[in-house]
Amino acid sequence: MKKVAFFLGKGGVGKTTLSSATAYYLSRKGRKVLIVSLDPAHNLGDVFGKKLSNKRTTLSPNLDGIEVDLQEWITRYLKESREEIQATYRYHTTINLDSYLNIMKYTPGTEEYAVLWAIEHVVKEQADNYDRIIFDTPPTALTLRFLAMPTISMLWVRELLDMREKVLKKRQTILNLNPEAHVIRGASKVEDDRIYGKLSGIQTRLARLHQLFKDDSYLTVIINPDTLSLAEALRIRHELEKLDVHIDSVCFNKAPSDGGCGEEVKQNFHRFPIFTSVYVPEGLKTPEDLVKVEIPELVEDMERS
Ligand SMILES: Nc1ncnc2c1ncn2[C@@H]1O[C@H](COP(=O)(O)OP(=O)(O)O)[C@@H](O)[C@H]1O
Ligand SMILES: [Mg+2]
Repeated sequence: MKKVAFFLGKGGVGKTTLSSATAYYLSRKGRKVLIVSLDPAHNLGDVFGKKLSNKRTTLSPNLDGIEVDLQEWITRYLKESREEIQATYRYHTTINLDSYLNIMKYTPGTEEYAVLWAIEHVVKEQADNYDRIIFDTPPTALTLRFLAMPTISMLWVRELLDMREKVLKKRQTILNLNPEAHVIRGASKVEDDRIYGKLSGIQTRLARLHQLFKDDSYLTVIINPDTLSLAEALRIRHELEKLDVHIDSVCFNKAPSDGGCGEEVKQNFHRFPIFTSVYVPEGLKTPEDLVKVEIPELVEDMERS
């Protein structure tokens, strides 16, 4: 069984609603569930009528929730980077770290890394405490970028490792010629080199995250009966396939009560299981209303995964 699940799709299609309904349903079946919102515009707490934070809050029996504070993760990421740079280049007093880190705050990728490290942290810390961890995701643009981040970053890290290896080989050559050579402040072998070790560590973390998305997570994309959400779902599928990440199913949410209008979804996603949740006309106002959202078949598929 894939312990982790991600609900993807265009804004407003029902990611928060279906992930909450799924989490609630599973918890009522006796599974221990953690639901985690990664959306900077959090509204998971509103669905359950509770204030959520970076720490776990109990929503109902067997069900806890977290709203990831991305700003806090960005601050933590920058602080760790600072400590890392200080430790690695401690002999280099010329680097002005403050201005460097100020720029990093606005560097493309910082938010994506913050999401990645938050996911890594939650899964590492909580996997043993729960039968399921369900992620409610941010808008598609950010979601696709953080899902792609491990693959893209691994290419960079691979290049950096190669470059570092070359530097170390050159040092080794110089040492072979003159064992007394004073070119070496640091190591000349990969196993002794702090920077090489750090890069390898990052590579391992990124590879694990990629594996989490690729093999160990249940991914479902939500579509409504409108062309825009269908177009966005197709884009998500396509972008993920480029990363060798494959969705497990499609949820056709806010469907008309006769279940119609899904023909286009069926045509475009004929290889995938499609689960239909009918539009609840009276709206979803309280946590108890979540049982009105039809997700049992989706949950069955998830349990089989
Ligand atoms: N099956 C449904 N029936 C009726 N209203 C729904 C249904 N699914 C979602 N909604 C409503 O649609 C709105 C957007 O849903 P939400 O889960 O917040 O979307 P997202 O998280 O994808 O932005 C909310 O007001 C929610 O109550
Ligand atoms: Mg939402």
